[in-house]
Amino acid sequence: MSLLIAPSLLAADFANLEREITLINKSDADWFHIDVMDGVFVPNISFGMPVIKAIQKHATKPLDVHLMIVDPDRYVSTFASFGATILTVHYEACTHLNRSIDNIKSKGMKAGVALNPHTPVHLLEDCIKDLDLVCLMSVNPGFGGQKFIENTYEKIKALKALITAKNTTCHIEIDGGVTDVNASELVACGADVLVAGSYVFSAPDPHESIRKLRG
Ligand code: DX5
Ligand code: ZN
Repeated sequence: MSLLIAPSLLAADFANLEREITLINKSDADWFHIDVMDGVFVPNISFGMPVIKAIQKHATKPLDVHLMIVDPDRYVSTFASFGATILTVHYEACTHLNRSIDNIKSKGMKAGVALNPHTPVHLLEDCIKDLDLVCLMSVNPGFGGQKFIENTYEKIKALKALITAKNTTCHIEIDGGVTDVNASELVACGADVLVAGSYVFSAPDPHESIRKLRG
């Protein structure tokens, strides 16, 4: 699979959100990564439905929505109505993960599951065939601008091996602390979607940052 870049709007300038969205629309990036936090599953609150609706109005690229919320099933229909292309729930937030995945797909979206840094990849062996994307958190979720956790490389390799063993296909997305320094090794290990927040939006030239992530 060719490499996809998904800038995280969490690091955008919210006072100039339309400008930031237009920047990504015009860039070489592939998806918008949208981080939804509820202050319960993670110790932070990002933005809610009115803001996401406003993002959808201006975004011309697929919306990759990452739910860091408890009981995400409550909002699957809402995110479908916002035109989310991919809806990712956390393994740690779903008691009935199989049901959550079915629910997402039944609403016409692609289904993703995110794993916290401490959650081993092998826990996905009974649902990997049903997934369109696995998001490996390479920081503890909740905040942008954190330090990349090096153990992620081993997890990507384990996930790649699981996908191959189960004879299936699925995006491997890496989220947290991604920069031009680790991008090529992440891709070499098997990642094909790189999320980047601060590395893109805090850069003097976000377009150049996006290009550099492609190596
Ligand atoms: C963290 C979020 C990430 C975050 C990445 O909880 O899921 O998507 O925005 O930000 P950076 O790239 O700055 O680590
Ligand atoms: Zn995210």
